[in-house]
Amino acid sequence: MPSRNPTPNRRRIETRMDISNQTRITVLCLAMLLVCGLALTALAQGSQSSQKIKILIVYHSRGGHTAEMAKAVAEGARKNPQAEISVKPVAEVKCAELLATDALVVGSPVYWSNMAGEVKTFFDRFSTECGVLPPTFQMRDKIGAAFVTGGETSSGKEIALMTIVAAMLGNRMIVISEGQALGAAATTGEGKAPVTEKELDEARRLGERVAQITATLKRGKKN
Ligand SMILES: Cc1cc2nc3c(=O)[nH]c(=O)nc-3n(C[C@H](O)[C@H](O)[C@H](O)COP(=O)(O)O)c2cc1C
Repeated sequence: MPSRNPTPNRRRIETRMDISNQTRITVLCLAMLLVCGLALTALAQGSQSSQKIKILIVYHSRGGHTAEMAKAVAEGARKNPQAEISVKPVAEVKCAELLATDALVVGSPVYWSNMAGEVKTFFDRFSTECGVLPPTFQMRDKIGAAFVTGGETSSGKEIALMTIVAAMLGNRMIVISEGQALGAAATTGEGKAPVTEKELDEARRLGERVAQITATLKRGKKN
């Protein structure tokens, strides 16, 4: 008649089987946790990198040089797959797109060592028409950058850039530069000389940096 108590050998075998089963379950649970963790991280990274950023590039141009620079800024920004870019003359900008944009890049020819009146009118108009005045400051924390073209080497390009940048700072925007110290610039010899490849490249770099910083800032705001 078989004994009711298992032999010590059998007990040892059963205990070992219990331990190996427990180990297997623990390893399985850990593996599942790891897979879930990796999936969630990939999902989070995916949604962050696919997040779109809006970049509005506006300009005034009679002779086409500033418009050419605007196109180069857009080319640079387009290198960033997240960027949705709109390029248009200042007179055509609507409040809705201004308020919806994540970044605003403004280009002007130098008129009397300053930004062109049309560009100043754009800033004045959006202050009143679009209600971005204090205390709401609806343009607050949007990225801003500037570019200019001027006839002479040293006849107001930096002042024009500064006046654009000052208007942006007044709106509590976050101003960045690239190309030259204060933004991109081209010297056009009273509008007769073409914009050089070097100047266009500086404008492209400005656009590229605007897109890069805007994407980083938007990602940071979400976290
Ligand atoms: C009314 C007026 C004033 C200008 N004043 C300046 C100036 O102070 N300094 C300068 O470097 N160029 C000046 N320019 C030249 C323009 O800035 C230059 O030709 C510019 O590249 C024109 O840009 P656009 O081709 O996009 O119209 C002036 C041009 C005009 C029409």
